[in-house]
Amino acid sequence: MKTNIITSIDLGSSVVRCVVADVFEDGEQIRILGVGVAQSRGMRRGAVVDVNDAADSIAEAVEKAEQMSGESVKGAIVSIGGAGISVTESQGVIAISRADGEVNEDDVVRVIEAAQAVSIPTNNEIIHVIPRSFRLDDQKDIKEPIGLRGVRLEVNAVIVEAPSAHVKNLTNAMERADVSITDFIIEPLAAAESTLTKKQKELGVVLVNLGASTTSIAVYEEGELFHTAVLPVGSDFITHDIAIGLRTEIDIAEKIKFEYGSADMESVNKKDLIDLSHIDESETEPVYHYHVLEIIQARLDEIFDLVVKELESIGKDQLLPAGAVLTGGGAHMPHIVEFAKDKLRLPVTIGQPANLLGVVDHVDDSSYATVIGLILWAVENDNTQSFIGSGSAITTIGSGVKEIGTKVRDIFNKFLP
Ligand SMILES: Nc1ncnc2c1ncn2[C@@H]1O[C@H](COP(=O)(O)OP(=O)(O)O)[C@@H](O)[C@H]1O
Ligand SMILES: [Mg+2]
Repeated sequence: MKTNIITSIDLGSSVVRCVVADVFEDGEQIRILGVGVAQSRGMRRGAVVDVNDAADSIAEAVEKAEQMSGESVKGAIVSIGGAGISVTESQGVIAISRADGEVNEDDVVRVIEAAQAVSIPTNNEIIHVIPRSFRLDDQKDIKEPIGLRGVRLEVNAVIVEAPSAHVKNLTNAMERADVSITDFIIEPLAAAESTLTKKQKELGVVLVNLGASTTSIAVYEEGELFHTAVLPVGSDFITHDIAIGLRTEIDIAEKIKFEYGSADMESVNKKDLIDLSHIDESETEPVYHYHVLEIIQARLDEIFDLVVKELESIGKDQLLPAGAVLTGGGAHMPHIVEFAKDKLRLPVTIGQPANLLGVVDHVDDSSYATVIGLILWAVENDNTQSFIGSGSAITTIGSGVKEIGTKVRDIFNKFLP
């Protein structure tokens, strides 16, 4: 069977991950051929702040993935994160073009385009336009309007924007690393792609990606994206707090977090002491394990309070039946699931990419949710090319158009024999 090579790059604040995958023609099976990981430099709060440094770390990750896969990487689908990502709801209205009033694909593309014609502040760029539901004359909440008849078609869509500076710096860094960008996807949406099921999205679910310097969320309901946000606090803050609290260097604090960290303060005795001299010779003073957990808990409290606040702001606090799915490196903290359940008052699980072939021992991990989600997103959208021609009047950067493409294809497929 013919296969396609797809590359994805997830430029996180602490780690750059590059995956080269082989996708069988039907899009059903994905084989991981190569994985490259590098420490990321030149990033702050999920955004590129030093183009050269970021480019170097991208190039390093890409080179490693090339070596493992034996493929040469030219282009990649890329995640975009960073505080400043925002969501607006928008409506579009058009008149059906056909004389008999039957809605066709073109109408759907046009109405989504109309929804996109909202005034975006000049320092922002549209990344995704995601239709939630359509209305045809008096008929509301239509998921698939194609083939129905009417006069006036309306769409309710979610528009996801990112600061233009983010997009520009990321583009420049990729260019310097000599990799062209085939598409941009907002980080939590990519992570959701590899970890959430259709059923969860249908019921109502929140993805919480615990990254190094940001925590990003994506809320789904009735199968569609409802909200997304990037909160400016992440798991590296825990490390910084430990460094300050114990007066140690950052590297040592990170090791303490990995070795002794836990989100459950009950898991240790108040009097338990830990000896850090095996981590670093200079650490001669024993410390209370409980104190380390207090530091961790205080920061986790803050992170999850922000998530709750965000859910409250959209009226979804404690109202998502499929609960929360945690991804990102921060999800490795022991007892984080119980902690999150308690804070969010929802069922909680850890999300891991599944059902992959190839060198999967590297990627079946919550830290790889985003980079694998990007591959899945690319697979979905390659199939849409024939439906959204290059003559399409939609001119936002890649993924907005592609998302429309996906929808149109989904809708279209329903009506094919
Ligand atoms: N086993 C672990 N225990 C606690 N924290 C962890 C563990 N593994 C990774 N982390 C933390 O996860 C964060 C990195 O997560 P990741 O999703 O890779 O970040 P990003 O994509 O923002 O670079 C860091 O703060 C790191 O310390
Ligand atoms: Mg990340």
